[in-house]
Amino acid sequence: MHIPISKTILSKKDITEVTKCLKSGWLVQGPKVKELEIQWSNFTKAKFSLAVTSCTTAMYLCLKALGFQKGDEAIVPAFTWISTANVVEQLGGKVIFCDIDLNSFNLNVSEIEKKITKKTKFILPVHLFGLSADMDPIVKIAKDRNLIIVEDAACGFGSFYKNKHVGTFGEVGCFSLHPRKSITTGEGGIITTNNKDLAEKISVLRDHGAVTTDLQRHSGPKPFVLSDHIECGFNARMTDIQGALGYSQISRAKDILKERRFIAEKYYKHLSTLKWLDMPFKHKEYVHSFQSFPCLYKPKEINIDSILDVNRKRNNWMETLNNDGISTRPATHAVHTLSYYSKKYNLKPKDFFNSWAASLCSISFPLFNGMKKNEIEYVANRITEHKI
Ligand SMILES: Cc1ncc(COP(=O)(O)O)c(C=O)c1O
Repeated sequence: MHIPISKTILSKKDITEVTKCLKSGWLVQGPKVKELEIQWSNFTKAKFSLAVTSCTTAMYLCLKALGFQKGDEAIVPAFTWISTANVVEQLGGKVIFCDIDLNSFNLNVSEIEKKITKKTKFILPVHLFGLSADMDPIVKIAKDRNLIIVEDAACGFGSFYKNKHVGTFGEVGCFSLHPRKSITTGEGGIITTNNKDLAEKISVLRDHGAVTTDLQRHSGPKPFVLSDHIECGFNARMTDIQGALGYSQISRAKDILKERRFIAEKYYKHLSTLKWLDMPFKHKEYVHSFQSFPCLYKPKEINIDSILDVNRKRNNWMETLNNDGISTRPATHAVHTLSYYSKKYNLKPKDFFNSWAASLCSISFPLFNGMKKNEIEYVANRITEHKI
């Protein structure tokens, strides 16, 4: 048996929709991308959704459209995928790391205010692994301190906080459609916003600065009149092939998310007696979408020796599980410990202690649509049998 950490299962309809698009001859940002965007807005209740090439591109474009200037500071959790920090760096900004809460793996909101300086302009809360960050205090701090929120909702499709979909709290939300996400277009990203002017600006920036999209031009009365270009833009357009794939999947989003929650519930049930393993944070005000199933192999105490001890045990265990056909991964990395950031900002692992601990002691187990009952049980049983 080989159980991957994640797997992409495409339906017959997905393949048909992609084939239809290929046969239509319209391959770049066109009617299918439009349909995906409409469905994304219907699902998240964001007024505007814009498809782009990835979540990383989405965050970059949003910061640019929101007027990010060289030297601006942006608060970023230290435990996230590297691109949350990279986009700030790419725009000539300064990344201000903030530590996380080990229960949720998300920003520790009580640390945020300490990080704000006169140069802080942005905050990028991340809804890691499908669990919303604690948005009420974050929105309040941003309001009080005049910061702009760009939500990294890469893993957040189907995640709610107090009945509101993530990606709709800040000025913008940025989602990923990478194959490890619940809905995938291979590579891909979506930007959500309720701000019409901003949506228009981002739409222009993603398409070489053109005011009129190809779809508008071709469906209008004068397709032969080329657009004006009002910005020095990029090419961040999603292909219509991807749009067709995304549109087909989002039309069964409820089922996709239901199945992921079902698998997660099986894990909660099987593993609830394990005192040494913290499963993903659960709370009635949060709807988790289980982009993955990240757990914490709990250190006896939160100190260096216990963390290193658990890290050794976890790594050996991951290897054993791998030999037994079960793929696992650390939940994600602590960005401040990666060479680029540790060197540039002279950071030590301990500087963001919980983020470092999370990178050494977290473990994600397989969770994907199409995971079979016997596979879930096999994984759950092997976890339960583990001798700590
Ligand atoms: C938290 C987070 N942010 C950003 C990204 C980047 O997404 P993309 O690969 O679509 O650029 C990821 C991807 O895994 C992620 O997990």
